[in-house]
Formats: sequence, C-alpha cells, structure tokens
Amino acid sequence: MPTSAAPLAVICAMAEEEAALAELMVHVETRMLLGRRVVLGQLDGHDVVVSESGVGKVASAVTAALLAHEFGCRGLVVSGVAGGLDPALHIGDTVIAHSLVQHDYGHLQDAAMIPFRPGVPPLGEHRRDYAFELAPDLIDRLTRAAAEIDLPDLPADLAAPGERRRRVLMGRILSGDQFINSEVVRRRLHTEFGAQAVEMEGAAVAQVGALLGLPVVVVRCLSDLAGADSHLDFPRFVAAVAPGAATVLRRVIRELW
Ligand code: ADE
Repeated sequence: MPTSAAPLAVICAMAEEEAALAELMVHVETRMLLGRRVVLGQLDGHDVVVSESGVGKVASAVTAALLAHEFGCRGLVVSGVAGGLDPALHIGDTVIAHSLVQHDYGHLQDAAMIPFRPGVPPLGEHRRDYAFELAPDLIDRLTRAAAEIDLPDLPADLAAPGERRRRVLMGRILSGDQFINSEVVRRRLHTEFGAQAVEMEGAAVAQVGALLGLPVVVVRCLSDLAGADSHLDFPRFVAAVAPGAATVLRRVIRELW
C-alpha cells in the first residue's frame, strides 16, 4: 500500500451518505469538478477528497476515475448504504467488501444470467474470475478491525424491539443498475453469488481501481433487506444508518492508510 501524502478518494452515491462523512471532516474546501461538488479536507488526519457521484455504476465509475486523475489518489473508497441479501443480517449491520461483483454484467440466456468479468466480451468460455477481490493481507487486517468495531444502537423509534448488537463483517457485495425490491431476486442473488449485500456502485469503482492499480474498499451499512419492503425501508432508514458506514470507514482508513 503506498504511503505518500496523496489523498484518498471517497465516493458516495447520495447526499445523505456524503453528509455523514462531511460532518466528520476538518480543513474543508469545496471545488467543482466537471459538474460534481468535491469536498477536500482531512478525516482523522488523513487527506481525503469526497464526492457525491450520483447513483449507479456509470456515475460512480466516472467520479472515481475523475478524482483519481485530478488528485492523484492512492486509494478509492465507497461509503454508504446497501440492501441486505443474507437472511442472517439486519438493517443497521455493516458489510466491508472482500469481494465485489457486477451482478448485471454477463450473458443472458433464456432465464439464466451467466456473469462475466466486466470489460471482457460476455461470450464464449464461461469466465469464473468475475469478482474483484481485495488483496488477502488487507482482508486479514480488515477482518480483525471489523471484529473490534461497536456501532451505537439505532434510534429507539427505528430499532426493532429486542434487537441484538449491530454486526460489522466482511462479505461479498454485489452492484448493479437496479434497486432490488423483490424477495425472489434477493434469494436468487444471495444463493447464486453467495453475497451479503447489494448496492449500485461498489463493483464499478472496483473495476476502475483494477484499471488504475489502486486498492478499493467498499463499506455499506444496510438500509433495507432488498425484499418486498425495501422500497419502504430504504427511505425510512437511509439517513439513520449512513453514519454507521462513516464510523466503520474511519476505522478502515486508520487500519489501512
Ligand atoms: N442500496 C440500498 N438498498 C438497495 C437495494 N435494495 N438495491 C440496490 N441498491 C440498494
């Protein structure tokens, strides 16, 4: 991992996610970059450039490439919320990605979707390396760090009665240009990919990181469970859980950079 003073780029899809981070930053300066507002400053002594990319794979990939190019960033981080896929998880739990997959990139054959490595033509021999994986030494360090993080309880009006301690775990996160609001799709994505969470940006930023040779860490706090109620849970929980991702992100940055 480089140790230069180059900043880290932090990409957030939505204003609620960016606000949770911006309020923790000091020495803040704001600039516009090709129509995006970029907040420059320090987070716990680390130089960061934070931008609200907009939702989806293209918006986040363009933003990641722009920040990396303009500021010579040494790493890319995505922070925000996701839908839970693993039935063992609850709203408010947080997943740090050891593996990122674009679940909508591939070869569609009747009802079957065969995932391919993004950037490679999705034809011919079935490629198994469709996931972007974090380096094993970083996974080890983040696994240890995740076990130490304590997230505060959700506000009383949002917490389920008798709910247990919020979890922070390493997992596989899927990204695609779809908001998942279906129990059938949630089950399929969990089973086919063995994934814990789904969102719309992380694996696109991972593709940019792979091209540029930069490490990519994605931190996602669950705002919903991607099933039949996700369209109701997402707006109810997004602002309440976004600070959870920011809290975990601080610990990740302290651990890795
Ligand atoms: N981000 C948060 N919840 C999501 C969901 N259910 N599907 C896709 N992206 C999400």
